[in-house]
Amino acid sequence: MTALITGASAGIGAELAREFAKDKINLILVARREQALKTLAEELSAEYNINVSVIALDLSLPGSATELYKKVQSLRLTVDYLVNNAGFGDLGEFADSEIQKQEDMINLNILTLTKLTRQYAAEMKTRKLGTILNVASDAAFRPGPMMSVYFATKHFVLAFSEAIAEELRPYNVHVSVLCPGATQSEFGEVAGFGPPQENSPFPTSKEVAEFGYLKMKKGEVVSVHGGDNRNRIEAEKSMSRQQIRETVYQQMSGLI
Ligand SMILES: NC(=O)c1ccc[n+]([C@@H]2O[C@H](COP(=O)([O-])OP(=O)(O)OC[C@H]3O[C@@H](n4cnc5c(N)ncnc54)[C@H](OP(=O)(O)O)[C@@H]3O)[C@@H](O)[C@H]2O)c1
Repeated sequence: MTALITGASAGIGAELAREFAKDKINLILVARREQALKTLAEELSAEYNINVSVIALDLSLPGSATELYKKVQSLRLTVDYLVNNAGFGDLGEFADSEIQKQEDMINLNILTLTKLTRQYAAEMKTRKLGTILNVASDAAFRPGPMMSVYFATKHFVLAFSEAIAEELRPYNVHVSVLCPGATQSEFGEVAGFGPPQENSPFPTSKEVAEFGYLKMKKGEVVSVHGGDNRNRIEAEKSMSRQQIRETVYQQMSGLI
């Protein structure tokens, strides 16, 4: 069995790779930083006696999903698990944002995820076997003033994953979508929240990956990590859309 994991050079993706490795599943690790991928590949292949391939690629480039698919084909490996984890966010007012960054984000968080899912869902449907794990966010459940495009991309990931979960279920292809809340990783620094806090109150990437991996194995379609995050989603069901928007706007503005 082989798992293809995007965004495996750091954070949640690297920890998801460790979870698959513990189950002796071979890996194809993808991200831009080749050295970080190679270091992880050496660690996991030595510790768990599995085959780990590394593909360094910028998945925000429009043709990258097709390029990745071809590179995997040339390895002559069947992808049993597709993990669409790579993603990034951008903090700030949309009207002042760098449009190329928003485009790259949409390409990575939505376009590449969709194209990779299309390519591997078709193969899995034919084989009547396979699992797709998409990483969304608790941001998928509410609008996100001050991080508007990011939140909207994660709405897409959640809605898309839930929809294809139903379509693929009759073919024995399972789709799971992991929704982490704020998590210790490089995400915050990349998104513009500043350097990571010491004594962070947030869960580690390892905790989130263990949770998401377990939920995927149990066949759960939507899994939200963290009791506080689940409670907030429940509480928002009795709030007006305006109340939700204003609350998020105040919270996010306080982070700038
Ligand atoms: N951390 C949080 O608070 C949080 C909360 C909810 C959801 N999430 C989601 O969880 C997922 C993983 O994020 P994380 O927290 O683990 O963040 P992270 O530590 O920043 O890791 C992001 C991963 O994505 C890869 N990546 C970024 N841009 C890429 C590109 N253009 N092409 C290929 N790979 C790219 C990065 O590798 P390279 O830089 O080497 O390319 C890295 O491996 C993301 O989808 C994120 O939206 C995170």
